[in-house]
Amino acid sequence: METFSTLFARFLRIVIPGGSGQLGQVLARHFQERGHHVTVLTRGPYTAPWQTVHWDGEEPGPWTEYLEGADVCINLAGRSVNCRYDAANRQSIYRSRMHTTRLLNQVITNLASPPRVWLIASSATIYRHSLDRAMEEATGELGGYERISRWRHAPETWNFSVGVAKDWEAAFFEAETPQTRKVALRSAIVFSPTPGSAFGILSNLVRLSLGGKQGSGRQYVSWIHEVDFARAVEFLIAREDLAGPINLASPNPVPNREFMAALRYAWDVPNGFPTPRLALELGAFFLRTESELVLKSRRVVPGRLLGAGFQFEFPEWPEAAEDLVRQWRHRHD
Ligand SMILES: NC(=O)c1ccc[n+]([C@@H]2O[C@H](COP(=O)([O-])OP(=O)(O)OC[C@H]3O[C@@H](n4cnc5c(N)ncnc54)[C@H](OP(=O)(O)O)[C@@H]3O)[C@@H](O)[C@H]2O)c1
Repeated sequence: METFSTLFARFLRIVIPGGSGQLGQVLARHFQERGHHVTVLTRGPYTAPWQTVHWDGEEPGPWTEYLEGADVCINLAGRSVNCRYDAANRQSIYRSRMHTTRLLNQVITNLASPPRVWLIASSATIYRHSLDRAMEEATGELGGYERISRWRHAPETWNFSVGVAKDWEAAFFEAETPQTRKVALRSAIVFSPTPGSAFGILSNLVRLSLGGKQGSGRQYVSWIHEVDFARAVEFLIAREDLAGPINLASPNPVPNREFMAALRYAWDVPNGFPTPRLALELGAFFLRTESELVLKSRRVVPGRLLGAGFQFEFPEWPEAAEDLVRQWRHRHD
């Protein structure tokens, strides 16, 4: 039987539902540059240097033909979480992930020649707020309603995000796909040198001298450079012995105050005003987003990737930040 190691000797057919967003662009570019054939399923209109095919994310349709005989499916579809968690947005965030995952389960189960491996985006936010110890897959504790200080429990918005990630993974693993290996990518924030991304937003703050610590500055930031994100996905496709939930995060999460200090250093901006928690809550309200992204302590580490021998090109934040700033200057300044 053909194994993935022999498969990698030829070009793969990779289908990416929801691949028009930040992570999809990173993966599509990475795999196309290596000669693989990439098809992005989009509700459109969206054009790209790779194949794009229309789907509605709701019903089976002609798009299912592109999964027949494909090698890999990577589902990234889901309403952006960069919004206020009001009732309508919550419903849309939850339903878009659950429904596309169940739809793909149904389609893949019924294909004559289904993809050999199917990966979905999950999130490192599935773990609890953690200042005390690192969370890897085997020993990490999932979040939801945890105590975050002597006086406070996790806010209800954090519980919502954890709940989405848990149900999303459960929906993914609920259907048996005997011919298709399944991997849930518990990804930390992916840092790309692109406007509008987390790196772009934090860099703008730094350049306005607003890049001091956020909140107490003690909360950990889990991060991964886009290069390592794409390399890790490629590694997981190749390694047939790896299935289930996998953390995609650099091995070295750092407290927010160190994280911001390294970013300031990379931008050559010596000082930055700190932003207290209340100001962050207010800012998030006016920017129509949530403060969870910066205030929740994500201390997530890639236990299974490291155990399998994956080597990071950017294991340390200061070097990753310098590389991202260099690329940003090259592209935008
Ligand atoms: N970026 C990160 O750092 C990060 C980290 C951890 C987890 N994640 C998760 O990984 C996934 C991909 O992230 P991303 O940053 O690439 O997201 P993104 O930029 O928001 O892209 C997601 C794509 O999903 C599609 N989509 C949106 N609403 C949809 C709906 N109602 N039904 C079907 N498709 C819909 C859109 O494609 P079309 O409009 O073309 O259909 C969109 O381009 C998301 O689920 C995100 O939560 C991201």
